[in-house]
Amino acid sequence: MNKYEEQKFAIPALKGISEKTITEHLKLYAGYVKNANLILEKIGEYMADSEKNAYVLGELQRRFSFEFDGMRNHEYYFHSLEGGAKGLPAGSKLKAQIEKQAPSFEMWLQGFKSIALTRGIGWAMMLWDPNSKQLTHAWMDEQHLGQLTDTRPVLMLDMWEHSYLFDYIPSEKKKYIEAFFENLNWEVIEKNFTLANQ
Ligand SMILES: [Fe+2]
Repeated sequence: MNKYEEQKFAIPALKGISEKTITEHLKLYAGYVKNANLILEKIGEYMADSEKNAYVLGELQRRFSFEFDGMRNHEYYFHSLEGGAKGLPAGSKLKAQIEKQAPSFEMWLQGFKSIALTRGIGWAMMLWDPNSKQLTHAWMDEQHLGQLTDTRPVLMLDMWEHSYLFDYIPSEKKKYIEAFFENLNWEVIEKNFTLANQ
């Protein structure tokens, strides 16, 4: 079984999201990679007698979804903060798609921010659905509950409190959402969209 590798991210100083937040958040990301590997290893061991270990295996598989998605979700999130704030490139296909689906880019963005304010911990997501050939918003509880089958992540916003608690109190999470978009490298999001379309 291949091991998952912890990725490194070149995140510059951000506006409104402190270095301490990013440092601590990266440690949590490393924990997801470590635990995804650990669970995979344990599953391999228990598989030696899958009948006897059926209950344990079932629970380990549940935890695996949590750890695996926690790893991948954070990779999308941290990559989108690399390279400094950048706008969408000229002739952006993502922008064209959004404008095809929403009255304006601004209204679409507002809609995404509203989803990010969903109560509870989880992720606001913009996904590409290759089956219906359209973008769709989604809210995912925790790291894995609410994933839409076959869709590909384009934009992932971590709305767990650990993403902003050193910088904002929970009732101010709107400010964190604004800070995220102020620092977002839209060129990475455009690339995610291009890859999702392949
Ligand atoms: Fe997180």
